[in-house]
Parts: sequence; structure tokens; C-alpha cells
Amino acid sequence: MASAKAQIDKLREQLREHNYRYYVLDDPAVPDSEYDRLFRQLQQLEADHPELITADSPTQRVGAPPLDAFTEVRHRLPMLSLDNAFSAEELAAFDRRVRERLQRETPVEYVCEPKLDGLAVSLMYEGGVLTRGATRGDGQTGEDITQNIRTIESVPLRLRGTGYPSVLEVRGEVFMTKSGFARLNENQEKNGDKPFVNPRNAAAGSLRQLDSAITARRPLAMYCYGVGYVEGGELAATHYANLMLLREWGLRINPEMQVVTGVEALQAYYDQLLARRNELEYEIDGIVYKVNERRLQQELGFVSRAPRWAIAHKFPAQEELTTLLDVEFQVGRTGAVTPVARLDPVFVGGVTVSNATLHNIDEVARMDVRKGDTVVVYRAGDVIPKVVKVVHERRPKNTRPVVLPEHCPVCGSDIIKPEGEAVARCSGGLFCPAQVKEAIKHFASRKAMDIDGLGDKLVEQLVDQGLVSHVSDLYRLQTDAVAALERMGEKSAANLIAALEQSKATTLPRFLYALGIREVGEATALALANYFGNLQALEQADAESLQAVPDVGPVVASHIAAFFQQPHNREIIAALMEAGVHWEEQATLARDNLPLAETTYVLTGTLEHMTRDQAKEYLQRLGAKVSGSVSKKTTAVVAGEKAGSKLTKAESLGVPVLDETALLALLKEHGIVPDR
Ligand code: IVH
Repeated sequence: MASAKAQIDKLREQLREHNYRYYVLDDPAVPDSEYDRLFRQLQQLEADHPELITADSPTQRVGAPPLDAFTEVRHRLPMLSLDNAFSAEELAAFDRRVRERLQRETPVEYVCEPKLDGLAVSLMYEGGVLTRGATRGDGQTGEDITQNIRTIESVPLRLRGTGYPSVLEVRGEVFMTKSGFARLNENQEKNGDKPFVNPRNAAAGSLRQLDSAITARRPLAMYCYGVGYVEGGELAATHYANLMLLREWGLRINPEMQVVTGVEALQAYYDQLLARRNELEYEIDGIVYKVNERRLQQELGFVSRAPRWAIAHKFPAQEELTTLLDVEFQVGRTGAVTPVARLDPVFVGGVTVSNATLHNIDEVARMDVRKGDTVVVYRAGDVIPKVVKVVHERRPKNTRPVVLPEHCPVCGSDIIKPEGEAVARCSGGLFCPAQVKEAIKHFASRKAMDIDGLGDKLVEQLVDQGLVSHVSDLYRLQTDAVAALERMGEKSAANLIAALEQSKATTLPRFLYALGIREVGEATALALANYFGNLQALEQADAESLQAVPDVGPVVASHIAAFFQQPHNREIIAALMEAGVHWEEQATLARDNLPLAETTYVLTGTLEHMTRDQAKEYLQRLGAKVSGSVSKKTTAVVAGEKAGSKLTKAESLGVPVLDETALLALLKEHGIVPDR
């Protein structure tokens, strides 16, 4: 057995190499599980031999105690900024200036690099070990963020290979990927924290945490784009060759970087990357061009704080300021009421934007956005433009907060917003024209009224052609009108009318489910039917008494009560009954009193007299739970034809098994006779 030290060294070496393959070469050699296994092995060995832990071990990225404040860092060489070019003309002027200064007629060689929209940082490696990470600050003095930088997995804690200078300062951009940003904001919202405005702000906020444990949970990444201070070693003659050296040493370089010659090639690179801007997994705000030869760079020198040998060619902005003219409310197809900003038209992200989403009323309140405000509009790629920020300093006098309307702008039904929910909804589910298509699709679905042949496409046609405005109109459809629709004929029309006729005989739970009340799924519909026994009693229940029903909490209760309070919904229900929709009244039974209360059944295999869904519904009606997996607690497994592993498992656990005949007998005993 090798010594602990030898084993530890070997594991560290392996982990570094895997990191290099993963982050730098983007070509992992092993699956994550193998990496994790090696990592845990190293952790264990280090726990057993704490004296062998070193700061550059791959395990030592997190765990530094929180700071009170960052200390200042003076950069040995200033961190410069870049001049900008906003057009092809300004780019051509840059290239002309370069050639004039160098007194050259021939085209110049440049490196093209995506200009990442993140934060510039400096990494100091001494003897190949990361000793300091710092922000750019004002270019002369930054902040020491070493312990935060250490948490970024694509930053090596130790350089790989050989030949690096004894002191090497590397510069680059720390950023957050688009998907990392989306994930982070989802989490922020889930935890009731303020979402970040854009990936750049999220990266900045994450990097400036005094507690590196927070930084460690943020999806940060880094690409290196240059070298700063160097001591005890020589670098290459060109910028590009230097980048390749950095890459060899384990630092991550943007794979889009490219050497080209002449100004036309710069513009071509710009055009192709601009076209692919939305496909990249990170945000870029332009391209940086750098003269490749370091000798020429030196010859060109600097003006004030920017090099003459480089320029940033900016992309069209994805964020712009404009004025909020008004806030309107739109009703989505599921009844969600969304505030929409009407804007003074503004060119942003390559198009003119005059509307932007405000997400929901809580978001409006959080930003305190008001009519007349100056706002920041963000539009990246093909995503919907959104208002991300209010410039409160520019608020005109006499503005008023935006309030959620009480009534649906489309149908006039009450808008309800349950306590703790961000989304407000129109409660006119059956009546509201904005929601009618979805309402009908749901009404017709298999677990609802089960109207065979009434698919989504047909619903669209029926509504668009004006044949149906509400679910109750379905039962007034005539065969010839249906037959005249696209892709329909006499036969399919007749089948639809027959299916509609057949659907009229239903059950109370199905009917309740079919109404499409927010949050009322199959199980809740069944619980409501069991508890109230009939529709009239349910219609009259208030939100408080509804909460006595098993599984009905305050949010569901408020949706149910609001639904039945809407006169239009009640009219449609009445029209449905008038059209002949009916069910057998069922006994009022509190769930505890149901005959199969506190039993759990599992269904497997194919049944002859009913589908598994129907069997499930019958058993649930009698109070049984129906589960998908067999355990010792299962009351019985109902096994049809071709039953598989669930049956085997039941047998091995000694769980009773019922065949279909036994199930039919059980149902019959409690008054249920399957109807097909
Ligand atoms: S070079 C001497 N290269 O842009 C050159 N900067 O306005 C100094 N940036 O603060 C910077 N990607 O944050 C360079 N490939 C890139 C870059 C880049 C993004 C940022 C960096 C810098 C700012 C300059």
C-alpha cells in the first residue's frame, strides 16, 4: 500500500487533470460519478491525515470564515479599460490608426475575442499556486476576493504542467451562464429573495460576498483573456501564443477566440458572432480585437487608461431606458392575470419594443413601478422583453402605485389572488373568452367528461368558427355544422355527436373535475363530491366551510368559492344540466367513514371490464388510496392480465392479491357496478 501522502498526491493530480479536461478542454475523460468518487476518496484521506492538507488541494475551495470587509489590493500593473467602437466606420478608423502609427500598408494580425459581460478579475499565481484573486476596482486598486475566487471551479488552484513563470498574473472575466442565472433566480424567487436583474449583476453580487460559502453556491465561471504582471519566466511573442500557454497551464480560454488578419476579417468575425449571440451560453456585449504581436502592442502603447492596440466593438444594447406609458392587464388562457407595460417605443436587443412583461402584480409592487416612470427594459435574444428596473430618481411628481383590478378586463368576473400566491387569476373559468379554449379542452378530456373525438384541434376550430363559446354550447352542436369543418366528415361528425350524448351520463366527481376550477384535480374533485354529496351544497359553501373537506387548504378553498360565486359560471352549469348532463346522486360521506378508508390498493395488469383509471376512480370513491408501488402496507394488489413485477412483489411480501372477479365483487358489495 502506497503511503498516505503518495495516495493523496496521486488523487490530487488525477482530480486536477479531470478538471482540466472538463473545464479547459471541454472534453471530460470520466463521468461525474467517477470524479465524485475520487473526490470523496481524497476527502477521506485528508480527514485521516489533516497534516497533509494543503491550500491548493481540490478539496480546499470552500470553508474560509466570513470576512468583515475586503482588503485593498494595489495592482502591480494597472488594469486598463478599452475604447469602444459602435459602428463599422469606427472600427475601420481604429484599424487605420493602428496602421498609421505602425507605418504599415499591409493588414495587421488581430486576435478576436468575445467581450464577456461580467467582471474583470486578476489572479496571482506564485510558484504555480493561486495566492490571490482581486477585482479590477478603479484599475489601480481593487479588492482582495481570494476566498471567493477559490470557489469557482473553473479557476485552477494550482497550475498544471511546467514552464510557467514563478510569478504570473492572469486576467480574465468572471461571469454567470444564462442557465446558471435562470436557476439562481428561480431559487431566489422560491426563497422570497429579490431576483437579479441580469447575469452580470448576479455575477457581481455573488463575487462581492463577504461569506464565500454564499459565493460557492452561485454558478460562476471564468474565462481568461490576458496576462498582467510576470516575474521569473518568459512568455511568447504573440498574445495568442500566450493564451495557448495559459490554456496549457490549466486556465480556461474562450474557445471562440480567433486570429484573423485585416479589418474585413474583424467585421466578418463580428457579424458571425452577433448572429450566434443568442445561442451562446453566456452574455456578450461585443467583440474585443487585440493586435496579436506583443512587440507591436508595445510600439503602440496607451492613451490615458486604454491601450491603442485594442478596441471593444459593441453589440446593440440589450438594456435601454424608456418611459412607462401605462400598465395594462392581460388574461392568459389559464386565467392568469398578467400586468403588461406599455412603453414609449425603444430600440433594444435589435428590435423596437413597445410592450414588455411585468410578470405579476407582486413583481410590480416589488419594483414599485408606476405610470410615468423611467424604466430599464431588457431584451436578450428571442425572449420576451421585460421591465427589470425602475429609475426611481427620475420619477415625475404625482404618480400612484399600480393596483390589481378587481374584475377581469375580458369577462368582468372577479379576479382573485390567494394569500401567498404571486399570480392573480380570473375566476370566470367557464365563461371568460380568454380561457374558453382551454376550458373546453379540459372539459372534454378523458378524466373529465371523456368526450371521445373532441381533440385540441377540433376545439380550436369550433371556437374560432363561432360554433361554441362555452362548454354548454357543445351539447347544442348539430351534425351538419360539425361535418362542414376542416378535416371532418359526416361520419366523424356523427361520432362526435354520439360521444357528446354519451358523455352526459357522468359522475359528480368527474363533473367537478371537468369544471376546471383552479387547483381542483381528480382527487380534490372526489373529496368534494364525497363530502358534499351534491352540487347544490357545494355551490353554496363558503371558503371557510370548504376547508373542512380533506386535502382542501385555504388556496384551493378560495378558488372554489370564487368560482361558484361568479354568476356566469353558475349560468353555464345550469345550461349543462338543462342540456342533459346528469349523474347519480351519491351519499354524503366524510372520508373517514368511507367503506375502504385507510386501505391502499395497487393496480397492475390489464382489466377486462374497466380500465385501470376507472378501477382507480371506483376504489377512491370508496375511500381507498390507490398507489403505484407495492409495499408491506399495501392492503391488496388487484392483478389483471399480464400482471408483472408488482404481482411478484406482492407475492413475495405476502400481500393479498385480487383478480378482476374479486374486484368486481368488492365494488358491487359497496354499490358500484362498472358501466362499461
Ligand atoms: S482586455 C488592456 N479582453 O471589458 C485590455 N477585456 O472595457 C483590458 N472584457 O474591464 C481588457 N472580455 O472586464 C479584455 N476578451 C476581453 C474581455 C474584456 C470582457 C471586459 C473587462 C474589461 C472591460 C474593458
